[in-house]
Amino acid sequence: MMQFIKISLIFTVIYAGFISAQVPIPSRPDGYGVGGPADAHVVVEMFFDPLCPGCKASWPTLLQLIQTYTTRIHVRIHTFPLPYHTNSFVASQGLHVIANATNRNLDTIFRYATRVFETQEMWSNDATKSMTMTQIIDSLASMVDKAGFLSKARFLAGMASDDINEETRISWKYACSRGIVGTPTFLINGVATSASSAWSLDDWKSVIDPILASNEDVSSQIKDCPPNQKTCQYAPHKTQCCLAGENCIPNVGCRCFNLKNGNKCA
Ligand SMILES: *[C@@H]1O[C@H](CO)[C@@H](O)[C@H](O)[C@H]1NC(C)=O
Repeated sequence: MMQFIKISLIFTVIYAGFISAQVPIPSRPDGYGVGGPADAHVVVEMFFDPLCPGCKASWPTLLQLIQTYTTRIHVRIHTFPLPYHTNSFVASQGLHVIANATNRNLDTIFRYATRVFETQEMWSNDATKSMTMTQIIDSLASMVDKAGFLSKARFLAGMASDDINEETRISWKYACSRGIVGTPTFLINGVATSASSAWSLDDWKSVIDPILASNEDVSSQIKDCPPNQKTCQYAPHKTQCCLAGENCIPNVGCRCFNLKNGNKCA
């Protein structure tokens, strides 16, 4: 009997593990996208924490990217509040509240994100350590009201909504399911890249333009490699010299596909 209980317990634990590993299916694809259609040739996704300094630093470049490519690419943002930025979940829920109350007005959603980045220090752990959560949410609501995004009362109602809280959690779970572990994380066409706040608009262009022009021949300009090797700029600020027979794989580097010769490519 004891054995039976033990085995059932083990199965219960395994079963519970399966249940909790499932991410709820959101009522529509996660995130808020602008520019071209969601199946554009280039889709840039940003997973961000509104209180992360690196996200703040990369935000202006992302906005430039949107302005530069307009409808040629799709740019999508996802909230991913990190647990060690104590007020980040609240600031993230704020974005979902704005989206809800404005019927997903993307301009207001992006302006809210911009404003939270601008006022980021106000919501830092240090600046809020003697405030209660109620005071922090009230302060965020005042900022939203003052910026003209939403009345304070409407914002507070959204912050108290279980549905919108749940929506914010689902976004977080979704990001986890994509393997996101930090912010900002940028995916291009669903693939993780080394893009960071250090990337300039030109860096982004050096990745996006070849994809957009993928029907044409695009060759790298840099010529630092020995004459018998091909320069492979596979990511901004990342170059390798490919040996004969190796291929330059964007986002990866020089790779040999000739398995017959082992690691020797030629
Ligand atoms: C806003 O939230 C309410 C309550 O959860 C929901 O019924 C409504 O569909 C949401 N609207 C949008 C545009 O998401």
